[in-house]
Amino acid sequence: MADLSINFAGIKAPNPFWLASAPPTNTGYQVQNAFRAGWGGAVWKTLGQPIVNVSSRYGAMNYKNHRIAGLNNIELITDRSLEENLSEMKEVKRNFPNHALIASMMWETREEWHDCIKRCEDIGVDGFELNFGCPHGMCERGMGSAVGQNPDVAERITAWVKEVATKPVIVKLTPNITDITAAGLAAQRGGADAVSLINTINSVTNINLQTMSPSPSVDGLSTHGGYCGPAVKPIALNMVSELYNHPEFKLPISGIGGIETWGDAAEFFLMGASAVQVCTAVMHYGYRIVDEMKTGLSDYLEQNGMKAPTELTGIAARKLRRWEQLDLNYKIIAHIDPEKCIGCQLCYIACEDGAHQSIALQSHTRVPKIKEEHCVGCNLCSLVCPVDQCITMVQIPNEAGRLTWPEHPANPNRVSHSALT
Ligand SMILES: Cc1cc2nc3c(=O)[nH]c(=O)nc-3n(C[C@H](O)[C@H](O)[C@H](O)COP(=O)(O)O)c2cc1C
Repeated sequence: MADLSINFAGIKAPNPFWLASAPPTNTGYQVQNAFRAGWGGAVWKTLGQPIVNVSSRYGAMNYKNHRIAGLNNIELITDRSLEENLSEMKEVKRNFPNHALIASMMWETREEWHDCIKRCEDIGVDGFELNFGCPHGMCERGMGSAVGQNPDVAERITAWVKEVATKPVIVKLTPNITDITAAGLAAQRGGADAVSLINTINSVTNINLQTMSPSPSVDGLSTHGGYCGPAVKPIALNMVSELYNHPEFKLPISGIGGIETWGDAAEFFLMGASAVQVCTAVMHYGYRIVDEMKTGLSDYLEQNGMKAPTELTGIAARKLRRWEQLDLNYKIIAHIDPEKCIGCQLCYIACEDGAHQSIALQSHTRVPKIKEEHCVGCNLCSLVCPVDQCITMVQIPNEAGRLTWPEHPANPNRVSHSALT
């Protein structure tokens, strides 16, 4: 196996797979089970003034046969006392000295932050994660995403923590913001050693059509919650890459959001992460999924002649460009493999009604035909085709002549993506 050990912002761990702060890291019993199962680190369920939770707490977006394509929760931070949490964290650290144990927390006053940081350092945690992200319950009290959405406040609280912390400080960012780079740069100005993202996205997952109430239902009422799981991965990948590509942003990134497999984790590395965290997939399938993650990532590194996960960091992010820098002269069209086609004609319907009318039906066979002269190479047919590799996109010479994107320097509404050069 490749060496998966990492040093993330000064925090060492046997591998880059950490549990995100959430129910799987509620107790010492759980975190020790997770470390035995192979997780390299754990971010403890957020410490703070203990709260009382409601029931029920979770809602899910099931998509066809995929249970929990997206998970929504209205749970708050830890409901246990600081003393109870610290005593269990101390035991975890004693039994697993080489695993990364991170204390997540959120407090209101500078004194509270200082006190908790010092008490966590006394019991030997390896680092801190400042929860500036939870989008429900705590933000109404001026914490969580209320901090992450206000760069000045995020910078100030990070600086408070850095006044006393001797261990690395990770700032966990909220995705409920227009420009993630503003939040990341604020954390950097405050002295953070790293950032992690994403926390959950504001959402209501579904409405019960019998009771006409949103879920999760608390005696018939509900509240908006935080969305996570596979459905949020594309949003998280984009935000990670926006930070990674920002010329002034220099901190390492812990990628979070919808990671279920080694491949998902590799995508986060490729988009700029140097470590990853997982929550929903563990809530769904258990700690055991880390086995596949470790062997899969190790094989992938070996196949690519790489020795460490961080060799992947940013390779795909560096291939992102501003729209107008893409080559207008590159042309592909769809090709249907008649041997693989099952004749469902979904590609025809999608192209006819939803795209560019570039696929024709044929009278002698159910295999549709691409109208090559009309095909714009949009990909839709290959995306709806239920058979892998049946519709592929092939490059053809472009006969339209050299095309370039017109400059619009005078338009005051012109968006300049500062993250991309
Ligand atoms: C039930 C639940 C509780 C959570 N509690 C916390 C928390 O206390 N602190 C925190 O920073 N994030 C919390 N999160 C957010 C996760 O740590 C993570 O950022 C988010 O779920 C995205 O990762 P995922 O798609 O792997 O679940 C919670 C998520 C869930 C589903």
